[in-house]
Amino acid sequence: MSEEKNGISRRNFTKSAALGGFAILSARGALAEANSDTLKVGLIGCGGRGGGAAMNHIRANENVVIVALADAFEDRLNDTRKRLADTNSPRLRKKVDIADDMCFVGLDAYKKLLATDVDVIIHATPPYARPQHIEAAVEAGKHIFTEKPVAVDAPGIRRFIAAAEKAKEKGLVFVTGTQRRHQKSYLETMAKIHDGAIGDILAMRCYWNGTLPFSHERKEGQSDLEYRLRNWYNQIWTCGDNIVEQHIHNLDVCNWVMNDEHPIKVTGTGGRAWKPNTEQYGDIFDHFVCDYEYPNGVHMYSSARHFNNSANAVFEEATGTKGVSRCQDMGKDDRDPYEQEHADLVASIRGEIDYINEGVRCANSTFTAILGRDAAYSGQELTWDDHLANGPAVYDPDTLSFDNAYPLGAIPVPGDWGKA
Ligand SMILES: NC(=O)c1ccc[n+]([C@@H]2O[C@H](COP(=O)([O-])OP(=O)(O)OC[C@H]3O[C@@H](n4cnc5c(N)ncnc54)[C@H](O)[C@@H]3O)[C@@H](O)[C@H]2O)c1
Repeated sequence: MSEEKNGISRRNFTKSAALGGFAILSARGALAEANSDTLKVGLIGCGGRGGGAAMNHIRANENVVIVALADAFEDRLNDTRKRLADTNSPRLRKKVDIADDMCFVGLDAYKKLLATDVDVIIHATPPYARPQHIEAAVEAGKHIFTEKPVAVDAPGIRRFIAAAEKAKEKGLVFVTGTQRRHQKSYLETMAKIHDGAIGDILAMRCYWNGTLPFSHERKEGQSDLEYRLRNWYNQIWTCGDNIVEQHIHNLDVCNWVMNDEHPIKVTGTGGRAWKPNTEQYGDIFDHFVCDYEYPNGVHMYSSARHFNNSANAVFEEATGTKGVSRCQDMGKDDRDPYEQEHADLVASIRGEIDYINEGVRCANSTFTAILGRDAAYSGQELTWDDHLANGPAVYDPDTLSFDNAYPLGAIPVPGDWGKA
């Protein structure tokens, strides 16, 4: 539902009366008032996380209904439609009502879903499509939950930031899938860190050292694009590489420790230690190590890798003048953060809590990852401002077509990568 439909200067009398204060004039006040009835929700990107996020949404909220699905591939859409329909909870079943003519397949499926009367979208395609789709969603006046990361290159980040800022102007609520930001142990610990519990921050380190999530062989008859999209984790242009796709969660927490200041420069190293040089394993690295510097001289050491049979570790750590924290060790978890982010989305749409727009923050954390990746690919020290303005595109979103050839890119060679 957009403010164009509802007018942007009506007062949210219900909320102000409850508070006993003055009504707040805002675009969102009008939206909250108008959205007190059932919210219609559409899912774009019906894979593992998309289906999971849709379930989180209906578990976390009342008066919401999933009414539309969009995916590049029919089998993925059908699997998720079945997953949502198969819930044996009567409470959840009544929150799923997807008609045949609200199911959209193909590369333009997102446009068809956005042309319906859904109020909210859940966006869970791989990250390559995010800037283009989210720009269109904001244009269409939808409230947004989008998964991370939000782009795969600097031009995509710029496009996503512009969309997030436009969403703010339009009063559209905008939550991103960095669920640690909605996780109680992190929220409570971070409040204590910001209150001086470990003193002034001297240094940080963060890790996502794990294994490769998936890689598929090409099936007979699959075009380049179908194969690349189904094997999306393994190409730079579809995934962003593991530092962007997974490690963003940890980098986001480090930026959070720094009160959402972002690093100003980075040096990085990475490569492929074990992956065979075959199409199945694409063109991404399997390890990265980066040294980030924040404006006040604080350094953050980051490690992201896909190694089998190795020591795994996923955490964030801040060292201060008075102590050390793992960023969630001064708080307690008693709720599911994946559900909480959807509860917060809907509460914000309804005006029960403050307006939420996490778009620029998540774009900055995604770009923190892209900056480190490109430093490792290129072998150069990169600065935030220059790379955000001039960093290279890794693909062209506006020419995507099943008719085009998508040869596998070259594995980046430091010293050469990024040179025209
Ligand atoms: N927050 C978290 O903890 C978390 C966890 C898992 C995944 N994720 C993120 O969620 C996203 C999806 O991951 P996944 O594991 O669900 O992958 P997936 O492959 O299971 O699902 C992706 C879906 O998007 C569809 N798709 C691809 N291109 C599309 C397009 N142009 N238009 C419409 N549909 C398109 C695919 O066909 C597929 O069904 C990724 O960005 C990933 O990083 C986040």
